[in-house]
Amino acid sequence: MQKLEIFGSKKLKGQIKISGSKNAALPILAATLLTNKKIIIKNLPNVSDIKTMITLLQSLGSRITTNKSQTIVDNSKQKKKFASYNLVKTMRAGILVLGPLLAKFGFAKVSLPGGCAIGTRPIDIHLKSLSKLGVKYKIDQGYVIAEAPKGLKGNKIRFAKISVGATENLIIAASFAKGTTILSNCAIEPEIKDLVNFLNKMGCKIEWISTRKIKIIGVSKLKEISYTIMFDRIEAGTYLIAAAITQGNLILQNIIPKVIKTEIEILKKIGSKILVKKNWLQIKGNKKIRNIKIKTAPYPGFPTDLQAQIMVLLCKSNKKSIIQENIFENRFMHVAELNRMGAKISIDGNKAIIKGNTNFQSAELMATDLRASVSLILAALTTQGKSVINRIYHLDRGYENIEKKLKKVGAKIKRV
Ligand code: EPZ
Repeated sequence: MQKLEIFGSKKLKGQIKISGSKNAALPILAATLLTNKKIIIKNLPNVSDIKTMITLLQSLGSRITTNKSQTIVDNSKQKKKFASYNLVKTMRAGILVLGPLLAKFGFAKVSLPGGCAIGTRPIDIHLKSLSKLGVKYKIDQGYVIAEAPKGLKGNKIRFAKISVGATENLIIAASFAKGTTILSNCAIEPEIKDLVNFLNKMGCKIEWISTRKIKIIGVSKLKEISYTIMFDRIEAGTYLIAAAITQGNLILQNIIPKVIKTEIEILKKIGSKILVKKNWLQIKGNKKIRNIKIKTAPYPGFPTDLQAQIMVLLCKSNKKSIIQENIFENRFMHVAELNRMGAKISIDGNKAIIKGNTNFQSAELMATDLRASVSLILAALTTQGKSVINRIYHLDRGYENIEKKLKKVGAKIKRV
């Protein structure tokens, strides 16, 4: 099992190119199932979740070739409708093939994704909403067996709860339904906007009619296109925090700063100086870290995927901070490891109370989930000694070349 060794106390200085977004690429790859035309996708991040999704599509019969800068997806011979447990269990986003398979074939057998470290991750909203498009489903031996013998039929659907995955599954499915679908109470994460842009470029008819409401007129013909995936805003947010916590000076390139307005505002409140340009920004960390109260929320609120990372930064503030996690029921797995490094964080329900004034000590650590693992790196960067992080396969799911990018800006980090 690979590990990361990190020697701390370096100020990060230099430029980091932000990669393509894993969470935009996953639904877009799933949506290619809708068409038999050749689709070219650019700026896919080289991370294991993307490799898993490509393997899943290949298991369904997609022919996918990747050269250095682009991935070509050919679904002209794609016939299978069965997404197996061994692929979906490692990457929950595998459930995103359910909508397109139903739209294309009127049938799909997809493994229930199961839970993960951060929560039970149910898909009841996906299923209830799909049934409003005429889908009949049953759960059998850990699989969803879903069918729409008469094809999908447009409808008015209001999501009971804001769900990124359910919004994505329904947008893709409704794109091929007969008639018009109106989806209300949608998630509006930038990755969903990227998916809509991709589908419309292929010839779908999707229009945002108000903040969380979307109108989809079903089509049946799609065009051959090429599409470039948006930047990864969570990767960008992670490096913003890396600059803040090491009092460094980083330039982040290949980004659209207005997409991460909330994160930029929060880091300015905490004390960082941030210069924003059209497609890059410069952040200078400040010695004094101000304490703050943060609540995670659906976009445009503070993202749950940056909660572990901002918690590490708040450990360095001189007063008590509070983080309230409102999205997932078990997303404080990183707290125990951070406390082993000397943090003083206590949990009260969905609130983490962070004492501050922490001098992290280097330690042997264990990653538990994707974003928790990167928070351990951030803490290790501020210590005086050598830390070792185990189970970094969690990290490789969503951060492309993280040790190369950090080494380039002065971190002493290596994979062993
Ligand atoms: C997406 O997960 C992201 N994953 C997550 O990123 C992200 O944390 C999450 O959205 C929230 O922003 C991808 O895009 C691949 P949800 P998703 O459906 O779609 C509950 C990362 O680190 N819910 O918006 O699974 C659910 O349990 C990952 O990159 C239901 O109750 O998130 C959660 O409490 C981690 N029933 C809340 O809604 C459902 O049918 C939000 O989940 C679906 C969800």
